[in-house]
Amino acid sequence: MPNIFGPSSNVIGKTAIMGLAASPLVIMITISQFTRSAYVTKVGIPYEQPVPFSHEHHVTELGLDCRYCHTSVEKSAKAGYPATHTCMSCHSQVWSNSPLLEPVRESYDKNVPLKWITLNKVPEFVYFNHSIHVKRGVNCNNCHGPVQAMQMAYKSRPFQMTWCLDCHRHPEKYVNKPEFVFGLYEKIRKTKTGTKGEGHETIAGLTEEEQSLMVGDQYVRTGKELEEGKKLVKEYNIKVEQLSDCAVCHH
Ligand code: HEC
Ligand code: HEC
Ligand code: HEC
Ligand code: HEC
Ligand code: HEC
Repeated sequence: MPNIFGPSSNVIGKTAIMGLAASPLVIMITISQFTRSAYVTKVGIPYEQPVPFSHEHHVTELGLDCRYCHTSVEKSAKAGYPATHTCMSCHSQVWSNSPLLEPVRESYDKNVPLKWITLNKVPEFVYFNHSIHVKRGVNCNNCHGPVQAMQMAYKSRPFQMTWCLDCHRHPEKYVNKPEFVFGLYEKIRKTKTGTKGEGHETIAGLTEEEQSLMVGDQYVRTGKELEEGKKLVKEYNIKVEQLSDCAVCHH
């Protein structure tokens, strides 16, 4: 579904308000804009979590692999959250007196799991599965933005149906070799510029596509890259004609 209220709708909205006061149309536009605003979709807004956990610190600076904490991301529908003992394997020794880590110690002592708040979710009538996407080399950042650079995690995009469908209709624009997914964070770490690279400024060792993913930009593949993508779609035996059938996501 296209976004019928584009950037210019603000101006239209204001003009309409001046001309029509509170006509039903204006009210409808206002409500529609409201439901698409960041306030409702919660895009870009960090959540208050039980502990102010930093991905930038643990992933990019310390070099922890996503799978160390999101242990089921390759195997099942859900990525999962780390158990308290995963944190305590380090924090019983490192930073063990930090007041910020008090909830972690308490959770450990009392054997009550931490209540991480889920930011990214699809409605109940939508079926999603992490493992198949990761197997097809779709990088986490494609869907979650520049996680390795986040101080506090935030949701990077609304998961609208059109967005899922764009990729399901043209997987050649996004699929990759499986090692691309976790290898990217390894590469980013090695650049030493870490997460500070801006836009498309060339960073040694990273392709344009990798640089875009690193900063959370949308990358448009070149003709040659699309050819490679098409080869992979064939190799993976992806049935593109069926991938956008309603039943794939709505059982
Ligand atoms: C591999 C070891 C390791 C694991 C596992 C780990 N951390 Fe850390 N964490 C560290 C280190 C090292 C530091 C920071 C020291 C520094 O700032 O240089 C740190 C810092 C922190 C801080 C900041 C503390 C402060 O006072 O500034 C928080 C909060 C934190 N970690 C939470 C967590 C949580 C929650 C988990 C589990 C989901 C976790 N960590 C798992 C090693 C680890
Ligand atoms: C040391 C443990 C640890 C590692 C390593 C780690 N994460 Fe996380 N991740 C967490 C914790 C704890 C949360 C929940 C708190 C938060 O949102 O920050 C989380 C939340 C997330 C979320 C938001 C989930 C939601 O609620 O919607 C995403 C996306 C995510 N991680 C992706 C990644 C990716 C990608 C990597 C590897 C580049 C990674 N994580 C590595 C511990 C970790
Ligand atoms: C194709 C898009 C896509 C990719 C690739 C992707 N995710 Fe997700 N992620 C989602 C969607 C959609 C949800 C919400 C799923 C739901 O509500 O069941 C989600 C939810 C999550 C959550 C919170 C709920 C849960 O599943 O436990 C975490 C954590 C997470 N993703 C981590 C990751 C990590 C780590 C990677 C890479 C290894 C990754 N994701 C790759 C789309 C993606
Ligand atoms: C960047 C590309 C991309 C995005 C975005 C994407 N997908 Fe997929 N999806 C794929 C690929 C590639 C496959 C694998 C097809 C295959 O191997 O047959 C797949 C497969 C699936 C499957 C089939 C799983 C199975 O067990 O057969 C489901 C369900 C699915 N996606 C749901 C979603 C939903 C829901 C969204 C949006 C929230 C989404 N996808 C977004 C690329 C994507
Ligand atoms: C690749 C996954 C995918 C496929 C294929 C898909 N949908 Fe959806 N659908 C979604 C997601 C994700 C949402 C939730 C969107 C949101 O929360 O904004 C959704 C929402 C909907 C809704 C609720 C209204 C709305 O727009 O939010 C309807 C109705 C719907 N889908 C019908 C269909 C029909 C009919 C088909 C087949 C022509 C289809 N879908 C194919 C992923 C998919």
